[in-house]
Amino acid sequence: MAWRDWVRTVEIEPSLYAADFASLGEQIVHLLNAGARVFHFDIGDGHFVPPVTVGPVVLRSIAPMIHDRGGVVDCHLMVDDPVHHFAELAESGADSVTFHVETVDDPAAVIAAARGLGLGAGVAFNPGTDVAQAAAAAEGADLALCMSIEPGYSGQEFMDGALERIAELAGLVGDGCYVQVDGGVNQENVRSVYDAGARLLVAGSAIFGREDLPRAYRRLVQALA
Ligand code: DX5
Ligand code: ZN
Repeated sequence: MAWRDWVRTVEIEPSLYAADFASLGEQIVHLLNAGARVFHFDIGDGHFVPPVTVGPVVLRSIAPMIHDRGGVVDCHLMVDDPVHHFAELAESGADSVTFHVETVDDPAAVIAAARGLGLGAGVAFNPGTDVAQAAAAAEGADLALCMSIEPGYSGQEFMDGALERIAELAGLVGDGCYVQVDGGVNQENVRSVYDAGARLLVAGSAIFGREDLPRAYRRLVQALA
């Protein structure tokens, strides 16, 4: 299946990095019941970003329960050598891999490597990276991820200037490429992020920071209705 088959026009993607890992499976079930189908899975290597986050071992535990309900796992690789991880992630149940343009010399070859393993492919870029350069690198990718924070941690504030960067990106990428936004998306700004052209909206603390996860997820979806 390709991204265009998974995505229902617009998706709020719970970022599992912000979950309570003592009850990860339960929290995923609650969000599946609330209608979430695209789950964002953040892999940090302690080098490209300071923290080591989660990886294939956790992915293997959760991917089957997401797939059983028709969902997908969208992996965000905040790592220096993304291709090195692709095969293990594919075997562990990843549906797509998004790598950072700052980490590779030949983005087209990296996209091809992902596709060769049956994975969707995305290109992410940091707030300090030129949008036009990132859009060019995302040629042929399923998604282009505009970071609205410095990557590494959940719970940061949506950065000034991110809406303009999203709109610029949306004007540059082709029809087959979704604009994704990650970092500081919340109830207050989700509509403007959508209006700027994003269709895949990642939300970590805006969902997992709340007591009632299904309600927090649904409120974000309703803000786009
Ligand atoms: C951090 C990750 C994000 C993070 C988002 O760099 O890429 O996906 O979990 O969390 P919030 O939505 O709280 O900024
Ligand atoms: Zn992320």
